[in-house]
Amino acid sequence: MQALAYAKLNLTLDILGKREDGYHNLQMVMQSISLSDTLTITPGSGRMDTNLSYLPSDERNLAQLAAAAFRRATGQDCQVDISIDKHIPVCAGMAGGSSDAAAVLRALNQLTGAGLTPEQLAKIGAAVGSDVPYCVLGGTALAEGRGEVLQALPPLPACHVVVCKPPFPISTPQLFARVDVKKIVRRPDTRGLIAALERGDLADAARRMYNVFEDVLEPRRRSEIDAIKSVLIDCGALGASMTGSGPTVFGLFDNAQAARQAQQRLSEQYREVFLAETV
Ligand code: C5P
Repeated sequence: MQALAYAKLNLTLDILGKREDGYHNLQMVMQSISLSDTLTITPGSGRMDTNLSYLPSDERNLAQLAAAAFRRATGQDCQVDISIDKHIPVCAGMAGGSSDAAAVLRALNQLTGAGLTPEQLAKIGAAVGSDVPYCVLGGTALAEGRGEVLQALPPLPACHVVVCKPPFPISTPQLFARVDVKKIVRRPDTRGLIAALERGDLADAARRMYNVFEDVLEPRRRSEIDAIKSVLIDCGALGASMTGSGPTVFGLFDNAQAARQAQQRLSEQYREVFLAETV
């Protein structure tokens, strides 16, 4: 069976507070885009490979963890081989690993005929990673709690997305550790953005995008993120923001030619630049 795993973007990311379990309560508007990994899943003996040699293929890989979580939750002894052709940049804030895990859960549900609902699959996914439940459902959604409390939203109007991943890694736990919730000054207008989605107003939704992690980046990282946002806006993006814990930056465009121009300009400086659409 072949399955597509779509990348996610954070149209908003807000941190509401630190929890006793060490996680943070979040409020995020999520959106899937056409940039995707392809998984091939066949009955087998639990082997796994990817086209990126540096990725772990053992139980450290979220796809393997998802298969194990599915077996535990359903009692099904379904051993599969998983082959992943990765296109979603790794450690980029686009939930690539979580989306692969979600695709494994959906595929095993079909292959075994277990008949679980998307909500039941999302619940199994929560044990694998905070973004996995959203990736099971996809589309446009509000994610709260650790990321696992989900509410479907009216879809973001169709648009062109330019995605640019600068070549430095950001550690998600380290970035969370730098956040002092009381000191967050600028927050996204989540309600305003949801109201814009309800009206189908792309420009207004794009204008309200923001990610509170941008404010806690080291200054030189912050200036690089800001510079990429400026190129996107210069080229005609309706809005631009960082996604997840970064470092990927994206812009939304209602004009295909402007999006291509932004992609070309950023490609002069960055290797990982993509043109995508909303899903
Ligand atoms: O759940 P996941 O393994 O994806 O989370 C990675 C790390 O990100 C956690 O160990 C935690 O440090 C941080 N995190 C958090 N609050 C969340 C989600 C993740 O603090 N809601």
